[in-house]
Amino acid sequence: MSSLKPVRPEPRAEVMAIDAYVPGKSAVAGVAKVHKLSSNESPLGASPKAIEAFRANAGELANYPDGSALRLREAIAKRFGLGPEQIICGNGSDELISLLAHVYLRPGDEGLYSQYGFLEYPIAIRAAGGIPIVAPEKDYTADVDALLAKVTAKTKIVYLANPNNPTGTYLPFAEVKRLHAGLPPHVLLALDAAYAEYVTRNDYAAGIELVATSQNVVMLRTFSKIYGLANLRIGWAYAPTHVIDALNRVRGPFNLNGAAIAAGAAAIEDAQHLAAAAEHNARWLPWLAAEIAKLGIDVTPGVGNFLLLHFPPQSGKTAADADRHLSAKGFILRAVAAYGLPDCLRMTVGLEKANRGVVAALTAFMAGAPS
Ligand SMILES: Cc1ncc(COP(=O)(O)O)c(C=O)c1O
Repeated sequence: MSSLKPVRPEPRAEVMAIDAYVPGKSAVAGVAKVHKLSSNESPLGASPKAIEAFRANAGELANYPDGSALRLREAIAKRFGLGPEQIICGNGSDELISLLAHVYLRPGDEGLYSQYGFLEYPIAIRAAGGIPIVAPEKDYTADVDALLAKVTAKTKIVYLANPNNPTGTYLPFAEVKRLHAGLPPHVLLALDAAYAEYVTRNDYAAGIELVATSQNVVMLRTFSKIYGLANLRIGWAYAPTHVIDALNRVRGPFNLNGAAIAAGAAAIEDAQHLAAAAEHNARWLPWLAAEIAKLGIDVTPGVGNFLLLHFPPQSGKTAADADRHLSAKGFILRAVAAYGLPDCLRMTVGLEKANRGVVAALTAFMAGAPS
């Protein structure tokens, strides 16, 4: 036996191999008024009905919430025509991403995702004792053949964000179905459709049909983006009942708080607010893409509520230079070097003032104006 006994509790080695998730910045030292365009939040905020429901919950703070989040699951089920027994809610979809890894990966199993896929996937895979496997992308877009080529006997879960963050690109539903058809039946396909409501392409689908017709597909959704409720942490999954059953065994018994249940249900019933947020995005996303591209900055054609901007490598014009310039003017974008995209910044669609402001600031930046 080794004489070197640990002198303090030692985390598992896989945990210490994780690079902690770094959220988007929300402040700039010395700049009073900032436009936060770094976390893909809704510039229109939450539905007034959701805010009202949140406030009405204030009298309930001493009581435990409904651990099954029934009111919210029923509201979601009604909106999408699904059975509430096939829905599970999470403390953000982040929680569900993590629970799926914990439930389906044994130590040494592989969890697969694509090159620029959402960073929570490798974190969840490692935390569960699994091995993250990355499939290369083409044109900043997930590549079904590359993903299928990485599947081995050890693969237990495939995460696909569709559309993906931070690239904004998507796979047409036919490609998602081809991916699913190529997976062995014991591999779980987790379709993360956090930005589904923003997509205006008619070859896109979030995945409901695939969940309904198979035993190994889960669709993840969130209230953090178009519903403007990121602060309340509400995500949900639609899955076969055997998956719901397994997840329910490991989730916290009261993983959603009462304010989240009430506000989430009110939000999903407010079709008008949802439509306004979608219309706002449909107007400004293409405008931003076109205006920014005119400046000589490559823009990946994203379909979510954000754009990936590629800056030139020349000193003075890099993504880091642009980040400094924009921050000094009060525009906070997201640096995405942690995704292997050091030449890029990700910009969330904001209100008109912020959108026009960023284009003006980038125009000056590309023309060589000092910060
Ligand atoms: C692709 C994707 N999935 C999931 C999430 C997490 O969302 P939530 O706030 O529901 O945990 C995000 C948030 O940035 C995301 O971009």
